[in-house]
Amino acid sequence: MLSFPDGFIWGVATAGHQIEGSNVFSDWYKWEHQGKVKNGDTSDIACGSWENLDRDLEAVKALGVKAYRFSVEWARIEPKINRFDDSVLERYRDFSKALTENRIQPILTLNHFVLPQWFSEMGGWENKENLRYFRRFVSRIVESMGEFIHYWVTVNEPNVYAVMGYLTGEWPPEVKDMGRAMKVLANLLYVHSEAYDVIRESNPTAMIGVAVNMMPFFPLRKFHPGDRLVANYLDRVYNYSYLDSLMKGSIVKPLGEGEAVPEIESKLDFLGINYYTRIFAKYSKPLPEIAAGNEFEKTEMGYEFFPQGIEEVVLKAYKRYRLPIMITENGIADKSDARRWEYIEKALSGLRNAMDKGARVFGYLYWSLMDNFEWKEGYSMKFGLYETVQESLELRPRESVAKFRDFIRDSLK
Ligand code: BGC
Repeated sequence: MLSFPDGFIWGVATAGHQIEGSNVFSDWYKWEHQGKVKNGDTSDIACGSWENLDRDLEAVKALGVKAYRFSVEWARIEPKINRFDDSVLERYRDFSKALTENRIQPILTLNHFVLPQWFSEMGGWENKENLRYFRRFVSRIVESMGEFIHYWVTVNEPNVYAVMGYLTGEWPPEVKDMGRAMKVLANLLYVHSEAYDVIRESNPTAMIGVAVNMMPFFPLRKFHPGDRLVANYLDRVYNYSYLDSLMKGSIVKPLGEGEAVPEIESKLDFLGINYYTRIFAKYSKPLPEIAAGNEFEKTEMGYEFFPQGIEEVVLKAYKRYRLPIMITENGIADKSDARRWEYIEKALSGLRNAMDKGARVFGYLYWSLMDNFEWKEGYSMKFGLYETVQESLELRPRESVAKFRDFIRDSLK
């Protein structure tokens, strides 16, 4: 039996757009309605959470967890530029309050990929001038629900956002341009830093971090110098360039030219790591290739089943930054639930190893509470501890619910 320290934060995670439904003023909503998502799916219904927050709360409570990570949707709060919807803010506030009354820590993500359509039309994160709107949005959140939030995740996976939206162009706004991708990633440093300042001003003890997606990169041919070079390069750019910049207070290459920006420095109270799998890299011209490993079988997402990689990722990040770490996401798409618990246990045992070797880890959040709208994959990917029954919107516990609950209970004894 694995044991975890007293006070370790067990929890589950979701994101607004993926669960709420009818986020009609958002860039994703518009994009989905152009038929861009697998099977023509749209987030119109998602999990219907906007109308069923009590149901979600009950599902979280039944797990016996101490924390719930969710995100607020800016497009709901400010559907048109300068027009704020107070009833929306109130609802998020009530939900945060209800969580705390039930002794569940709300962990709040301010931006989880999705933007208001008006903001994206103004150039989104590509245009640094736009940051003032984000700053104002964050002030509204802090004013209305800040008193209930101790843990803040300013930006979810800036690296994934830049890659999917601006490099491979698989997500809105479908740009395929390395230079623009790096610019967006660099601007997301200021997004974090601005949010940090706004939160800090009103709450001197809040814990403020970002959640970065991390993967170990392996050379495809173990001893091939080119493959090793590419693996190291991708490791540095994908896993660390964003965080290095924040820690050093300079925009490191290839996000920038190493220029000093002291105003962004040392604004991380903890590091959120989202871990799913590992990647193999191959030297080739004109561009390097990457692929999922095939030593172990693939999960439904096409990722290699490799939960143990969390150990390496956590240890390396801890050695590099010495920041307390929370696993803000970890999970598997597994419709039949046949391998979910094995995946979680292996990840937890890797995490335990990293902690035994000195990494300071203070929480683990499973992704996700329930099956939800998995971006370009629509409803085809089932990450949930609970199955979301599409017709009735009932949350039906999979077997992993009891396993996770019992594990947490025993670990807290
Ligand atoms: C994202 C989630 C997503 C999950 C599973 C993470 O990259 O933060 O929104 O659902 O991975 O693919």
